[in-house]
Amino acid sequence: MAAAAAVVVAALTTLQQISPARGAFGIPEFLEFGECSPIKPHANINFERYSGIWFNIEMVPNEYVEITQCAMTNYTWEGDLMLVEDRGLSTEGVKMRQGSLMYPTEGEPGVLTVEAEGVPSAPYVVVATDYDHYSCVHSCLAMMGFRAAFSWVLSRHPTPDPAHVALCHNTLQEVGVDISSLVPVTQGKECPYTNKLDAVLAYSARVQAKAEEREAAMHKGKVASTPPAAQTVTDHRHHEVLTGAGGGWGSRDKKKTK
Ligand SMILES: *[C@@H]1O[C@H](CO)[C@@H](O)[C@H](O)[C@H]1NC(C)=O
Repeated sequence: MAAAAAVVVAALTTLQQISPARGAFGIPEFLEFGECSPIKPHANINFERYSGIWFNIEMVPNEYVEITQCAMTNYTWEGDLMLVEDRGLSTEGVKMRQGSLMYPTEGEPGVLTVEAEGVPSAPYVVVATDYDHYSCVHSCLAMMGFRAAFSWVLSRHPTPDPAHVALCHNTLQEVGVDISSLVPVTQGKECPYTNKLDAVLAYSARVQAKAEEREAAMHKGKVASTPPAAQTVTDHRHHEVLTGAGGGWGSRDKKKTK
């Protein structure tokens, strides 16, 4: 998530600016003393099945996240990297769009790393998902004795089954994540995606169906598996990434239904 990267960058920049003379003043709220505890990703996560649209149901708010309402993310697994496109509204109600890339993390199977040039990378750990309804995500970055920890409850639908939200809460808590700072993200009828929701949901369904087909075929040994995850990130550093505010609510969606 671009938001995660931005947050961590801001956090680290702030940390670097804290002089001993100023003591603890200026430490953003989301920074705590302590290490990140290791969190295991969902076993054998299939990033192709994970692809498609996820709505952001709950998140840890902080002043560096620009998309605070109606947040949804379009994930596209390309075999060795994940394209990420965040869309939503700012607190002022301005339409925002932000792109980023995530790569498999060397030595940590199932964990993705949000990469942006010239800044520290942030992990993206899917703690639990059923691919079809919910995803419980965690990210933690530690530096100089501080940690910045974030969690997200994601849903394939803007109005999730409360049982799935509860499941994420329980799962995150079980692995030792503090969920007390999670807050709901405004979703629903007032959001810009509302009149295109059917197309958005159909897109996810298509992407998932394709992934499931491939997975089933792989189990039968009929097709080769997707190429193994890349261990280096350098080749893709210069992929064009969508960035910027405004517009673009699925302008590409129209021409591609079916
Ligand atoms: C999601 O991103 C992919 C890859 O950029 C694009 O082809 C697709 O149209 C997008 N889907 C939606 C609903 O935005």
